Amino acid sequence: MNRRWRQLLTVFTLLASVAIAQTQAAPQRAANASPDVTVPSLSQALAPFFPVGAAVTPDDTAGPHAELLKRHFGSVVAENDMKWARIHPGEEKYDFTRADKIVAFARDNHLLVRGHTLLWHKQNPSWLFKDANGNDLQPTPENKALVLSRLEKHIRTVAAHYRDDVYAWDVVNEVIDPSEPDGMRRTPWFLLTGTDYLDTAFRVAREVAPKAKLYINDYDTTDPVKRQYLFNLVRDLKRRGVPVDGVGHQMHINIDCPSVADFVETVNMFAQLGVDQQVTELDMSVYHTGADAYTVAHPEALAKQAERYRELFDALRQLKGKITAVTFWGIADDHTWLAHFPKNRDDWPLLFDAHAQPKAAFWGIVDSRRLTPKNAGGVAGQ
Ligand code: XIL
Repeated sequence: MNRRWRQLLTVFTLLASVAIAQTQAAPQRAANASPDVTVPSLSQALAPFFPVGAAVTPDDTAGPHAELLKRHFGSVVAENDMKWARIHPGEEKYDFTRADKIVAFARDNHLLVRGHTLLWHKQNPSWLFKDANGNDLQPTPENKALVLSRLEKHIRTVAAHYRDDVYAWDVVNEVIDPSEPDGMRRTPWFLLTGTDYLDTAFRVAREVAPKAKLYINDYDTTDPVKRQYLFNLVRDLKRRGVPVDGVGHQMHINIDCPSVADFVETVNMFAQLGVDQQVTELDMSVYHTGADAYTVAHPEALAKQAERYRELFDALRQLKGKITAVTFWGIADDHTWLAHFPKNRDDWPLLFDAHAQPKAAFWGIVDSRRLTPKNAGGVAGQ
C-alpha cells in the first residue's frame, strides 16, 4: 500500500470511529431511524442453524424496531407482557391487551412466539401470595393447596389463550439458587409448596398446551455449582415423569465472561439429559463490573463485543441440533433492560445501535470478514 492510500485509510478509520462513537453516544429511541435494507438478514444467515428471536414490547410493533423485526428476526417473546403482574393483575382479572398486540404482530409477519413466563418470583401481583384479608400466606397445608390452585388456574387460562401461538413456554423461571444447600431458590412458591409447584406448573401446561415445548429457564447456567443443581433437578423431574422438554440458558453475559468454552461445556452437559436447549435472553454488556458507567461506548469495548459475539455464534453454529433457538433480550441499543440493571447507566449490549443500524457485533455474527481488525468496532468493505 502506498503512503497516500495509507493516509487516506487512517483518515477513514478515524472518521469511522468518530461516527460510530457519535451514533452510539446516546441510546435514545430514534423514532425516525430507518434500518438499512441492503445488509443481509440476521435470521436468514442463521436459518440453517436455529431461529433467532428478540424480546419485544407492544411499541416495537411499529416504527424502526418493527422493520428490524421483520427483516432480521424469526421469533419474538414478550419482554414483560406475559408476566403474571401484567397479564393476571387481579385474582379474577386477566389483561391480554398488550401481549395480544405482540402475538398479532407475530402472526401477521410469520414470526414464532416464545412465551415468558408462567411462573417466577418477580413481577407478580400483590394478591398472589396473600389471603382474603391481605395478609401474607403462611406455610400451611391449606395455603399450599390455595397457591397451587391459583397457579393451576393461571396456567389454564394463559397457556390456553395462547395455545395456537406460543410454540415454547418458559414454564418456570429462575428456580435455582446455588447458595441454598439443596439448590432451590427460597421463593414463596417453594416456601409454600416445596417443589410441588414445579410438578403442577409443567403438568398443567402440558395438558392445556400439548404442542408447546416446555422449558425451565435460568441465568448463570455456566456456573458449575448452579448448573449441577439445575441438571439434577431436570433429571429428577424427568424421572418422575414431569413433562420438561427443554432448558433455557438466559445468557445475560458481558464482554469478558463467561467463556464460550464454559457455555459449550454446559450445553454438552445438558445434552446428556436428552432435553432441547435454547439461548433465551442473550445480551452482552460492555461492562466488566457493576461499578463502571460510560456516557459513550468505548470503541475498544465494541470491537471486543463484536469479537465475542463472533466466537459465541461460531460455537452456536457448531452446536447445531443441540440448540434449537437463540433469542436476544431486545432489538437495538435504544431499548435495553441493562439501562436500569444492575443500576441506571447506558449500555450497548445488542446487535443494532440506537439508530437501528447494524453494529460491529452484527457483522461478527453475520459476516466476520467485514470486521476490521482491532479498529473502533468499525466495519470494512461496505
Ligand atoms: C426484565 C425486563 O427486561 C425488564 O424490563 C423488567 O423491568 C425486569 O425484567 N431475566 C428474565 C427476564 O427472565 O424476564 C428479565 O426481564 C431479565 C432477567
